Amino acid sequence: MKQEQLNIEFEVYDSAEQLNRQDAALLAEARAVTDTAYAPYSHFSVGAAALLNNGEMVKGTNQENSSYPVGICAERSLLASSAVLHPGVGIHTMAVSYHNHNEGTLSNKPISPCGMCRQALLEHELRYKQPIRLILGGQTGKIYIIKQANMLLPLAFSSSQMKENS
Ligand code: THU
Repeated sequence: MKQEQLNIEFEVYDSAEQLNRQDAALLAEARAVTDTAYAPYSHFSVGAAALLNNGEMVKGTNQENSSYPVGICAERSLLASSAVLHPGVGIHTMAVSYHNHNEGTLSNKPISPCGMCRQALLEHELRYKQPIRLILGGQTGKIYIIKQANMLLPLAFSSSQMKENS
């Protein structure tokens, strides 16, 4: 028996003022787009904004449903929009923010994508052969930057494992 370890590294910033101009602008879009979320059940509005390789920006928000599992997260709604509006174009960076309406105060710490979104982000990275850089932050407060989304899914399952001798 031997022990193995998988570590992830990410950058931590105290606030958006410490980000470069492009990253700060993308996070600002993710923060603002939370207003278009449809979250009447959780009251937890999530917004995502991504910069594509062609310089375009796409956004996504969570869209809930009275049949709860039917709802979709902001990250996956963005991935779907991006594939439809800009087919074949990779995602360079995605910023994710949220507004928790259950709290009286501004959402002030980063959230990170749920497990299902991590798997969807990984598929997109493999499909486009390009890492997706993530910027995670609330409406205010600390910000995390993760170099590639697949770092959030160690020992991930992917299509290569369905092939013989993988
Ligand atoms: N949600 C997202 O949209 N993205 C995440 O990264 C975490 C969770 C949504 C799903 C649901 O509509 C609400 O937030 C509460 O879980």
